[in-house]
Amino acid sequence: MELVEAIRLRKSVRGYKVTPVPEAILSEVLDIALMSPSGMNTQPWEISVVTGEALEKLRKGNVELLRAGIEPHPEIARPSFEGVYRQRQVDLAVSIFKLMGIEREDKEKRAEWMERGFRIFDAPAAIIISMDSSLDKSSLSFMDIGALMQTICLAALNYGLATCIEDQGVMYPEVVRRVTGIPETKRIIICIAIGYPDWDFPANSLKSTRLPLENVVTWCR
Ligand SMILES: Cc1cc2nc3c(=O)[nH]c(=O)nc-3n(C[C@H](O)[C@H](O)[C@H](O)COP(=O)(O)O)c2cc1C
Repeated sequence: MELVEAIRLRKSVRGYKVTPVPEAILSEVLDIALMSPSGMNTQPWEISVVTGEALEKLRKGNVELLRAGIEPHPEIARPSFEGVYRQRQVDLAVSIFKLMGIEREDKEKRAEWMERGFRIFDAPAAIIISMDSSLDKSSLSFMDIGALMQTICLAALNYGLATCIEDQGVMYPEVVRRVTGIPETKRIIICIAIGYPDWDFPANSLKSTRLPLENVVTWCR
């Protein structure tokens, strides 16, 4: 797929076909994505690919804790957004709920939607990125992982795959550790759902908006 087309086409997909993704294809996507840049070429990322029974255990473990009312406790800071940032977060939720036919007051359906995120959108594979906790204070390393995330999502498109970067999937790190064996010495950063998109899934028709260039870019001549 052509690069600019891929960048413009990429979007978060929250509904997948059950079709498994061959490991050879996941390997190719990750091999390409490992060309991502990192500060001083430190390559801080460590990647776990979770599929099959392991992924079912991860979903089940997440949902169990969520239903038990255990407060999610991700290992990356997730602040309560305020002001314009909060508004954008609300706008996103409103758009998704509208497509999914979820009413604002319908607590049950909202909870179901939340669970879906913790089930990693029922994708056939999940890519979990972690890094050594000795890098905890390096904002640079978090940026490096951001670059890797986006490159994975773009490379995936070339193979007809879709993705959703999501922190919900790793908000119960103890479950992730149990399933993947990621040790306590690593910080679990993010999860990426990956699989073949189900374009009939209502939320997948969402194309999120962006501020226009003029609102974001300052030219200093
Ligand atoms: C760091 C990060 C974490 C995210 N976590 C979630 C998540 O937990 N659940 C979810 O549904 N989407 C999640 N997303 C997807 C964003 O909501 C999405 O990227 C944003 O709304 C822009 O939409 P787009 O990806 O379709 O362009 C996350 C994205 C990023 C970059």
